[in-house]
Amino acid sequence: MQTSEIMSLSQQYLMPVYKPLPVAFVRGQGCRLWDAEGKEYLDFVAGIAVVGVGHCHPRVVEAICEQAGRLMHTSNLYYIGPQAQLAQRLTELSFADRCFFANSGAEANEAAIKLARKWAGQNLGGQSRDIITADQSFHGRTLATVTATGQEKYRKPFAPLPPGFKYVPFNDLAALEAAVDESTCAVLLEPIQGEGGINVPDEDYLPGVRQMCDERGILLILDEIQTGLGRTGRWFAYEHWNIQPDIMTLAKSLGGGFPIGAALASEEVACAFEPGNHASTFGGNHLACAAALAALEVIETEDLAENAARMGAALRQMIDDQLADSAALEHIRGRGLLLAVQLSENVSAKDVQQRCLESGLVVNALAEHTIRLAPPLVVTEEECQQAARILAAAIQNSYE
Ligand SMILES: Cc1ncc(COP(=O)(O)O)c(C=O)c1O
Repeated sequence: MQTSEIMSLSQQYLMPVYKPLPVAFVRGQGCRLWDAEGKEYLDFVAGIAVVGVGHCHPRVVEAICEQAGRLMHTSNLYYIGPQAQLAQRLTELSFADRCFFANSGAEANEAAIKLARKWAGQNLGGQSRDIITADQSFHGRTLATVTATGQEKYRKPFAPLPPGFKYVPFNDLAALEAAVDESTCAVLLEPIQGEGGINVPDEDYLPGVRQMCDERGILLILDEIQTGLGRTGRWFAYEHWNIQPDIMTLAKSLGGGFPIGAALASEEVACAFEPGNHASTFGGNHLACAAALAALEVIETEDLAENAARMGAALRQMIDDQLADSAALEHIRGRGLLLAVQLSENVSAKDVQQRCLESGLVVNALAEHTIRLAPPLVVTEEECQQAARILAAAIQNSYE
């Protein structure tokens, strides 16, 4: 199928919740994508931080093909070997002792919210049900997770929303402390806000939140769906602040491109769940877990967290160098390979995104004047150089 045909079928038959750019990719390899007409692109979005190991990593493809030919799905009515191994691996890599597997980020957060409330029912009494989240946060699109999301534009059309969520400004410990009361059971935060703008908190914010949660006896849930698994230069972003959450959620890059989500927790918190409290038909199936095991192996053996730290720093420098004398660039923020290029007010991010696409570079217009860069963690210095050149030219041309 040609792009025009894919576009017209999509426009006719899909519910109009997306507004895609006029391109249809049909093949991928590492940091490269090809569209239906064979044009090559450098992908600096990676499916929004999903394809951390790069498109079609041979190890992940091999694991999926092998598992697909043997057994894809049984049920959580029975034991599942790859699920058990994946849970073991994730707990070795993180603070956590136990995992629950879902199919997406929103589902992972649903599990985390239910777990926090179940734990609170047993440990804090029936009154403590509220979860405090941050303005500009993003936690998903199901009714509970969109309510947890601190952006009114996503919530408003879908009222009535489930009760039990409160919002405070991000990176403001005093506001958070003031919001916590006897109705609170947990604080839910992205360690670095993704969809809300790649907002990195001050050094003392997350340690302060951790300490406050300990003092008040409430849980800290970290949503590492976008930041986790090497993207910020560490396995998990919480490591930058030397803290540990009580519950953490993962998804996006966990399956190396295959859908899977997970909620992880300490032993004490995880064991608030009892048989029958939560479940998922597809969650933790053989195929998704085999893909995730392979993706974790790649992140480890190819040292991708380290590469994200190095390439992230290099990419920032390259963009800065290209635009050193330009008023079009305000600044670059982020950690590792999760970066926001903040443009001046007279440069439209959508314009830059379109010019980049025409020049064979995929970037994401995150806000009116903000470009998000989240390339695969396997990205090389040459690919960063090529991307920086195309991006800088697009920014300059949009400015003039
Ligand atoms: C931090 C964060 N949490 C949750 C989600 C929701 O994940 P999903 O789209 O897989 O439901 C996202 C997706 O962008 C995210 O970035």
